Amino acid sequence: MSDKINSTDNISNKQFEYMNLISEIMEIRKRGDKPLAFIHTYGCQQNVADSEKIKGMLKKSGYDFTEDVNEADFILFNTCAVREHAEDRVFGNVGALKSLKRKHPEIMIALCGCMMEQEHIANKIYKSFPFVGLVFGTHALHSFPELLYNSLVKGKRVFERGYDDKKIYEGIPIKRDGSFKGWLPIMYGCDNFCTYCIVPYVRGRERSREKDIIISEAKEMILSGYKDITLLGQNVNSYGKNLENKVSFAELLKEIDSIDGDYWLRFMTSHPKDCSKELIDTIAKGKHISTHLHLPFQSGSDRILKQMNRHYDRKKYLEIVNYAKEKIPGLSLTSDIIVGFPGETYEDFKETISLIKEVEFTSLFTFIYSPRVGTPAAKMDDPVHYEEKSKWFRELLAVQEEIAAKRCASMVGTTQKVLIESKKEKTNELNGRTSGNIIVELDGNEDLIGTFQNVEITKARNWILKGKLS
Ligand code: SAH
Ligand code: SF4
Ligand code: F3S
Repeated sequence: MSDKINSTDNISNKQFEYMNLISEIMEIRKRGDKPLAFIHTYGCQQNVADSEKIKGMLKKSGYDFTEDVNEADFILFNTCAVREHAEDRVFGNVGALKSLKRKHPEIMIALCGCMMEQEHIANKIYKSFPFVGLVFGTHALHSFPELLYNSLVKGKRVFERGYDDKKIYEGIPIKRDGSFKGWLPIMYGCDNFCTYCIVPYVRGRERSREKDIIISEAKEMILSGYKDITLLGQNVNSYGKNLENKVSFAELLKEIDSIDGDYWLRFMTSHPKDCSKELIDTIAKGKHISTHLHLPFQSGSDRILKQMNRHYDRKKYLEIVNYAKEKIPGLSLTSDIIVGFPGETYEDFKETISLIKEVEFTSLFTFIYSPRVGTPAAKMDDPVHYEEKSKWFRELLAVQEEIAAKRCASMVGTTQKVLIESKKEKTNELNGRTSGNIIVELDGNEDLIGTFQNVEITKARNWILKGKLS
């Protein structure tokens, strides 16, 4: 558990040999000079970061990439298990590949990620989707080349899942999706066991990467032009607890922040139970740390928070938030909320509404509770109907819409530093984000994509800002 020291290994040479071997298999490129891979990622940034490693390994194995599933030789869905809806989409999309596989039997169809670490799901895939040739869970990522090789040459389905060796594997090649926005995992897994959540079961025990490895990866990213770097972990605030040389998240953040360059540093997710004043002070004093704090509170009711096993109450949450607001001018707060946890009453839900009114978040990620097999909450009495929960959910959205609109309107007339991210299709409008992660639309040339610009905010439309270059 968390008092054990982390163990770090490098991905083995054997895996690089498998990448070489795959690059020599001619049968996998029947439809072109180079085999093409189609990778679709569901779920959170942790999965996105894992997919970047998978793409790194595929690239070294001779693959190119395609956005068109119909021309792919290798199709992979990296799955998410956090809510039923995410799982249903995977089943629907995998089912739709049946006819493609019939037409081109040489295609390899694979599934990986969080869903695959659940036994009942892997069994269902095995029985109901015989055209899926490779399945591997989150713990098997470092042996992907070997698994892919075996599935390609042995003519047998390969299923590798269910074994957490509690190690961290470094040295896996990465092919990042973006050239100026990037993810930097600082830890894996979760030990918190919130009663509704599947993540600890599918991602295994919490383990932190060595500080020096993270620092050198951050330096490398900054040197190669990354402007917006997000440190990732299920609970970044408990970073370093199981490292031999103990180091706090605030200390790590300070050290990365001291690297020279023009960039923003973000992080997610912060768990309120471990959010220290030291961390808030570090953000306040930071040179590069964004003025955005994503601090999920899940419910405004102390009774429900206890049932959720969250280890903080409303009072403690508000204390941190108020301290942060006082120390960090212009702070943008966001949160995750679950509506309709088992046994939640309308009175409990009203506590959530009153909390969002009090804090005034810039935006919220809101979810209706979804029972997950194997979690304690799935066994709790859940008397409120889904229709009723949906009604509460819509009430929450309406309240938040007003709050967000008010917050955005208060920014009109200010000048904000904005990272220009993309150009809208068909119009000349650019999209960017403020340090607080609020979307800004403005006119401008697409050469500006990937640069910081000062933008005068001229209008606010709900939660989106409009501006002009200043
Ligand atoms: N580690 C992060 C969250 C990871 S999951 C944290 O602790 O904040 C992202 C969000 O999904 C959670 O914050 C929660 O709001 C939501 N979520 C998790 N399990 C859920 C479930 N069973 N039903 C509905 N929403 C859920
Ligand atoms: Fe899930 Fe809680 Fe861990 Fe977040 S902290 S991943 S909600 S168990
Ligand atoms: Fe989903 Fe796994 Fe992330 S369950 S939310 S992809 S850690």
